[in-house]
Amino acid sequence: MSEPAKRPIAVAILGPGTVGSQVVRLLAEHADDLAARVGTRLEIVGVYVRDALVAREGINPALLTDDGPELVARADVVIELMGGIEPAKTLILAALAGGASVVTANKALLAAHGPELFEAADAAGTDLYFEAAVAGAIPIVRPVRESLAGDQVQRILGIVNGTTNYVLDEMTQRGLDYEVAVKQAQELGYAEADPTADVEGFDAAAKAAILASLAFHQRVALDDVYREGIGAITAADVIAARESGQVIKLLAIAEKADGAVAVRVHPALVPATHPLAGVHGAFNAIFVEAAAAGQLMFYGAGAGGLPTASAVLGDVVSVARHRASGGRGPRESNYADNAVLPIDDVFTRYAVRMSVPDRPGVLSRVAEVFAAHKVSIETVRQTADRGTAGLVISTHRAPERDLAATVEDLRHVDAVVDVISVIRIEGE
Ligand SMILES: NC(=O)c1ccc[n+]([C@@H]2O[C@H](COP(=O)([O-])OP(=O)(O)OC[C@H]3O[C@@H](n4cnc5c(N)ncnc54)[C@H](OP(=O)(O)O)[C@@H]3O)[C@@H](O)[C@H]2O)c1
Repeated sequence: MSEPAKRPIAVAILGPGTVGSQVVRLLAEHADDLAARVGTRLEIVGVYVRDALVAREGINPALLTDDGPELVARADVVIELMGGIEPAKTLILAALAGGASVVTANKALLAAHGPELFEAADAAGTDLYFEAAVAGAIPIVRPVRESLAGDQVQRILGIVNGTTNYVLDEMTQRGLDYEVAVKQAQELGYAEADPTADVEGFDAAAKAAILASLAFHQRVALDDVYREGIGAITAADVIAARESGQVIKLLAIAEKADGAVAVRVHPALVPATHPLAGVHGAFNAIFVEAAAAGQLMFYGAGAGGLPTASAVLGDVVSVARHRASGGRGPRESNYADNAVLPIDDVFTRYAVRMSVPDRPGVLSRVAEVFAAHKVSIETVRQTADRGTAGLVISTHRAPERDLAATVEDLRHVDAVVDVISVIRIEGE
């Protein structure tokens, strides 16, 4: 005798936009496969929108509703794809309190209010999954949270924002100025009309906070992440990088050493031979170093409706399987309490580019300033140009505090005309 069919899992979608509309489409197109993988059917019971009278292509109008609380109250699985803090937060908390499992792609919400949401999921004994919140289609949350749960993650270096990677890549490959590259990104749909969240590193900082929390088993808040955007990077910086065998990337960096963690987002010089240097266009990649696993690299589409929908549906299948079998996935792991270092205490390498008078004795005077702050010089590269010379000094690892004091002094010695840029060096 065949088993009686299980009750379908009621799925609510909040926000059928770029990602949500693809999730709706894939849930319908692959309904039989998904049912076979979960063990019961996934049935869309409603789609929450601001205005339910506006028709949405590919969505049965009868499913549209502008009553979010009523919809989440009758769902087993709530997929939040609205973005922003409210009403997403209130609806997710209501869904969890009602015992529903939640899947979200909302990095801004998780970075700002993750602890409250995870506690609500724990209190309700249900799942809160968020693979799509970091690097779109790339599986990185589950590998760090589950596959590496037995290892010690030491460092994560990630290109986690496609817009900034596109802009920097265009500057590198085609010699474009920053403003031209941003405008081009906007015209091609890689950048928003207001690109601030991307180019100033806010989006990457939210993802860095999420990744660091997972990697180091402790809560890392958005405020713990040091952040610098790419707005100050010039075509001349890109050329100077190339002449040193490097490329400039906006990196999200999370590292742990000597019982402390540091999390930061800033432009960095990466050797042209490093795997991250080969990440072009709007692609994302995350380089993970773990004590036993060694170096791992995750690469793929970091955004886009369809790629991101893949990550969302992976989570939907996971939480639906848990519901079908009566279990739940891993809880938030936050037992560790390493200190989170301020940027002043972070050690890294630096390239300081300056213009200096083209006369004897300049180099030794500049070297004295570095020595006075115990910042050790690794290489010096000099270029002459009509009376002034360009000087690029690359340092050994030094604390940010000492490098900042060095640069401050350099600005006041007559052996230096101008300090043009200071860019951190990573990945060596
Ligand atoms: N797009 C990507 O490539 C990508 C990649 C990774 C993660 N994400 C994340 O995925 C989420 C969704 O992004 P998206 O690009 O799909 O956004 P989107 O295209 O702007 O879609 C947002 C949807 O949510 C609805 N919505 C927004 N505010 C609402 C409110 N107050 N009440 C009811 N409905 C509301 C919108 O409805 P209306 O149509 O009525 O405005 C729209 O359908 C965000 O958290 C984003 O960070 C996106």
